[in-house]
Amino acid sequence: MSTPLTRRTLLGRGARAALLLAGGAALAACGLAPAGTAAPAGTTRPAPAPRQPNPSFVPDVEIRLHAAPAETTILPGRPTAVWSYQAELLAGDPANLEIIPGSFLGPTVRVRRGQKLRVHFSHELPGNETRSIVHWHGLTLPSEQDAHPRHAVARGQTYVYEFTVADRAGTYWYHPHPDMATGRQVYQGLAGLFIVSDDEEQALGLPAGAQDLALVIQDRSFDGDNQLVYAAGDPMAGAMDYLMGFLGERVLVNGQTDASIEVATRAYRLRLLNGSNARTYKLGWADGTPLTVIASDGGLLERPVERPYVTLSPGERVELWADFRGRPVGTELTLASLAFTGAEGAGEAGGHDMGDMSGGHDMGNMSGGGHDMGAMASTMANAPAQGAPLTVLKVRMAEQFESDDALPSVLSRISRHRLADAVNRDRPRSFTMTQPGSRWELNGRVYEPEAIAADERVRLGELEVWELVNALNDGETQHPQGMLHPFHIHGLQFQVIGREVLPELRAGWESVSAGYVDEGWKDTVLLMPGERVKLLLRFAAHPGTYMVHCHILEHEDMGLMRNIEVVG
Ligand code: C2O
Ligand code: CU
Repeated sequence: MSTPLTRRTLLGRGARAALLLAGGAALAACGLAPAGTAAPAGTTRPAPAPRQPNPSFVPDVEIRLHAAPAETTILPGRPTAVWSYQAELLAGDPANLEIIPGSFLGPTVRVRRGQKLRVHFSHELPGNETRSIVHWHGLTLPSEQDAHPRHAVARGQTYVYEFTVADRAGTYWYHPHPDMATGRQVYQGLAGLFIVSDDEEQALGLPAGAQDLALVIQDRSFDGDNQLVYAAGDPMAGAMDYLMGFLGERVLVNGQTDASIEVATRAYRLRLLNGSNARTYKLGWADGTPLTVIASDGGLLERPVERPYVTLSPGERVELWADFRGRPVGTELTLASLAFTGAEGAGEAGGHDMGDMSGGHDMGNMSGGGHDMGAMASTMANAPAQGAPLTVLKVRMAEQFESDDALPSVLSRISRHRLADAVNRDRPRSFTMTQPGSRWELNGRVYEPEAIAADERVRLGELEVWELVNALNDGETQHPQGMLHPFHIHGLQFQVIGREVLPELRAGWESVSAGYVDEGWKDTVLLMPGERVKLLLRFAAHPGTYMVHCHILEHEDMGLMRNIEVVG
């Protein structure tokens, strides 16, 4: 699969090469030189003026949101320098903005469907962060509210968002989306929840207030001074960390390590977001209690479903009905990420034990491809492998409570798209992820902010079937069987209608597939190596430029992303 070498692709490659500047050199030294590194780097095109407020838009909720440096205490001792979203409510109800105490996470925005929101976002990040912009992950918004890189603002500038919340009640989130710098900005602390409620949902009487808990799961590494460690600390490390996606050493929940909560013996609504850059979690109660799932990315399911565990890849959300009735006070439950295999093809990624990983992390073990990466040191040397078992959260029964909390048997109504109604029912639009050499490609291309290929134009209002393919990389030394990718589509919620996996990679797939929640609306879907997923979707609301990409943020930054032009 080769891309014709136009000036555009060369520029695109030049810019990507700049991102991996140090890394590219390291890859060359390791005999894995990426193609096209000779093109000039640093091709920044002039950005249009940032969006200004429209005086005729009358917001219900108005927020000032700064992305700026901050300090927070995560580990005992020295505070950790982070970047964080700091907000101020200019208009609305105090409940619209909920600070998470002691966390670097941005405040949780809580709004009702139909409310009008104005957000003045300003970029006040230091150093190399030339641009930033906020993406409202999961919301259906006009393209200029959706963080296309062409709208990213320079330091000191303010971008004004104005939109009506049109989406179903659900757990959405916001995070930076500047091309080639998303991974680093999110990693430093920039992310927050965006929770939408509506009348249908409120009428259900689901657990509310202190019984409605949002948990953002992330992983981070720290140096001896309690400071965050990210990819590219040294050239060799940077390249591998980008290629694999950056895995942290410790699990954080709402910005805290060794997280625990105290609950009463009653039912809770637990909203879980995987806000990690690259790590997928296989979430289950360590005592084997099944999970009751009530919502996915795009809000409530039609009915609650039970799972032995839930597989949550970066960007995905689920909501659980967690019923602690009947548990004696003093009991402690552990929400764990259970071991899984096959994250990188047939390799035994889940077999690593942190305790044994004293020094040299043998990458040859992890990739299963028979090549030896042992010589390539990585910033992730001490991080548990993708698929290694982890403790996520301890839940302690602290208070006896008599309640008659009842889980409704019907939660919402979801109109199912029908394959027969798709305009391309016999010819799915396909998106294939491959890794030729040392970069990831989507349909043989890397991201170019202004490029739109003929097969990336979609008609507004048409129902389409898409097929996402996580392909083998025949003949490649790295990831010959691919690795897992969470695929995210901007601008809509879709429905998953089918999954298939190559027989030779079925074992790894089966170590996570019972945890897929495909019953409801989704905006991000995990593909294990060798997996194909069919979706039905319709860009119904707005014409304009949207994006599709891998939500392993290092992959997105490397260019595993493309524009989709919705033509009205
Ligand atoms: Cu959550 Cu385009 O990202
Ligand atoms: Cu990916």
